[in-house]
Amino acid sequence: MVDISTTIASVKLDSCVFNASGPADVTLAELEKIARSKSSAITMKSCTLEAREGNPEPRYADLIDGSINSMGLPNLGYKAYVEFSQLLNKKYKKPVVASISGMTLEDNIRIFEAFNDSPVDFIEFNPGSPNTIGKPIVGYDMQLMDKLLKAVSKACKKPFGVKLPPYFDVVHFEEVAKVIKKYPVKFVTCINSIGNGLVIDPKTEKPLIKPKGGMGGIGGKYIKYTALANVRRFYELFNGKIDVIGVGGIYSGVDAFEFILAGASAVQIGTAYLQKGPTIFAKVQNELKNIMKKKNYKKLSDFRGKLKTLD
Ligand code: SIN
Repeated sequence: MVDISTTIASVKLDSCVFNASGPADVTLAELEKIARSKSSAITMKSCTLEAREGNPEPRYADLIDGSINSMGLPNLGYKAYVEFSQLLNKKYKKPVVASISGMTLEDNIRIFEAFNDSPVDFIEFNPGSPNTIGKPIVGYDMQLMDKLLKAVSKACKKPFGVKLPPYFDVVHFEEVAKVIKKYPVKFVTCINSIGNGLVIDPKTEKPLIKPKGGMGGIGGKYIKYTALANVRRFYELFNGKIDVIGVGGIYSGVDAFEFILAGASAVQIGTAYLQKGPTIFAKVQNELKNIMKKKNYKKLSDFRGKLKTLD
């Protein structure tokens, strides 16, 4: 028997594969579709204080090996997700994960406080969205990250983690890890989409999406290697004290296996869920189990983080 269960922030998950916040998780109907799938948790859309329409359409496009989006955080406002968490918790036996992306420090505090009285199992703080027009990617501003994490740590009574934008420079990995280690952060999720890509249709000579002159976050297979490097580096820097969740280009059991080998305790599926539908969760889980059987690994800790070196 192969066991692919895991824990994130000490919360038990029956499998290490669940949905990423973002794709098709805005409405209760969408969340119930995830609840009925093999996703081991139900992650809700990043929410803000007020409901948001998001950016003008078209704002998402499938690409051959992934996606580009500049959704702009369309969501129903945090009160809806507090209520959805109660309904989902009653109806389904699965952890429910809130994702919070307040526009200001005060908004974030209010939203975190509201979820304290909800049944969500843990919270993913998302200061890494590249798509909010007029706002920088907060995860690249270490002083602002520090200020936000300090405030959120005070306000939040639930276990929480941070979804990070991708980092590309050794110095930045170390700087952000230093800030995170100051606070009771239980996990990091690596990575949000690679911000501000531009996809051009040569036929129409136009960008594929409308917001920001066509610039949006790139997801899917294009970002897998950057995501793996981020998982690996944070796994090493946190030394097992903070869980790492991997996300970016996971379409198969092999992808999930590689992320766990790099140090991930769980993986999330984003673009592939939109493109392949809810069967993707069972597919990735079954393929991962088959790889483990062949390699004679019985549980994730048999190989998690144990990436070998080239001698
Ligand atoms: C969006 O709604 O723009 C995507 C959210 C994110 O990139 O974090």
